[in-house]
This record gives sequence, C-alpha cells and structure tokens, in this order.
Amino acid sequence: MNLKQLAANRALEAVQNGMVIGLGTGSTTAFFTDLLGESLKSGKLAEIQVVPTSQDTERRATNWGIPMTTLFEHPHLALAVDGADEVDPQLNMIKGLGKAALREKIVESHTDHFIVIVDESKLVSQLGRGPLPVEITQYEAKTHIRWLASLGCRAELWCDEGGTPFITDNGNYLVRCWFENGIADAYALDRTLNDQPGVVGHGLFLGMAEQIIVAGADGIRVIQRP
Ligand code: A5P
Repeated sequence: MNLKQLAANRALEAVQNGMVIGLGTGSTTAFFTDLLGESLKSGKLAEIQVVPTSQDTERRATNWGIPMTTLFEHPHLALAVDGADEVDPQLNMIKGLGKAALREKIVESHTDHFIVIVDESKLVSQLGRGPLPVEITQYEAKTHIRWLASLGCRAELWCDEGGTPFITDNGNYLVRCWFENGIADAYALDRTLNDQPGVVGHGLFLGMAEQIIVAGADGIRVIQRP
C-alpha cells in the first residue's frame, strides 16, 4: 500500500454499518472509495450510503455500486472523509486542488465527524505554501481576478494546457492564488472571501476537521482536534 492508501485504510475503521457518509474528492479519497466499495461487495460492511462531493466521486462510487443519497434526505451525516492539500498545526486546511472545494465544503459542513486523510507531505507550518483555489462566477471573471490580486497574491485563472479555463461541476471558473509569504491570517482572508460577491467558494477549510490521519514513512499518526 502507498501512503495515501494507508491513510484511507485507517479511515475505513471509522465506518460502521448503516452510516451515511460524505465522500470527498481527490486521489486519496479515491482509495477510500475503492476500499469502501470492496467492503460493501464482500459484505464486510452493509447499508452504507454516501453523499458525493463531485461528479468524479459520483462516477467512482457508481462503478462500485455504492448507494448514493443527498443532504436533503440526510442533513446530518454520520461521517465525512476527504483529503487535503495543506494542513496546519491547528488542523486548518487548504483544499480544492482537485477542483471540488465548493461541494466539499457544502457536504462536510453537515457533519461533526470530518476525518481528513493525507500523506505527511501535506503538513505545513503555515497555510499558503501552494496556491489557494478560489471559485468565481464566469460573469465578470476578470473583475474578480483583479480583486483577488488586490489582496496581495498572484491570482491566475486556472486553465488546462491549451489555455482553456477549467469549469467546475457548478459551472464556474477557478482561480489559483499564490501568497508569496504564505497566508498570514487565514481567518481574516476567509471572511474577506466569504463576503465578496462573485466569489462562490474557496479552499480555506477552517475549524472543520475533527481528525487528521497522516500516513508517513514511520506509519500512521492520528491528530485529533482538541
Ligand atoms: C479536491 O477538491 C481536494 O480538496 C482534495 O481533497 C485535495 O486536493 C487532496 O487531493 P489528493 O488526495 O489528490 O492529494
């Protein structure tokens, strides 16, 4: 097993029969989805339903025949499991480099038991080592990008290799924001982004994770929010 698989495997221990689970997006969560699918197929687990956080995850869960539901049907999830791009010592995170942060935040705000699975390369002393993804409306996109740059970052529309902007599952554009010296005050930035019309979502996930499962060369470490 590689490190991402190891972390996913550990998270599976938290799953019990009958649970409704928020299912994240990304390569680490894909391992978790596969393990969940295998466990359901073998009968090790039963009566699980998931709320997927992206079309990708929905497709993967469908391939395994994992039953799906919605937040409308199940507004309180027993558990959510997802990866992260950066995790700081307070368990605050940057997510969304898998282009699904908006749906992830919607789903993961519906549980008190949010487990994050990462390999140790994702641990940082301060958020902002890499880019912060921000989802914006296509309408007046350049205006939103100029406003993001005014926050003191390098803000670039996220495009494929041919220069075509990625479109999210929600029909929006994505901007990647690089903060040269990291994000000094993540809570202040979170509020600023939340208040800006045209910004539909962003990858700061603050105070949401209950537990981080970190897989490293020395094995698994579980960090619990105090
Ligand atoms: C998806 O939008 C993201 O939030 C992912 O959870 C995050 O990018 C981690 O992805 P990997 O598990 O692929 O590293």
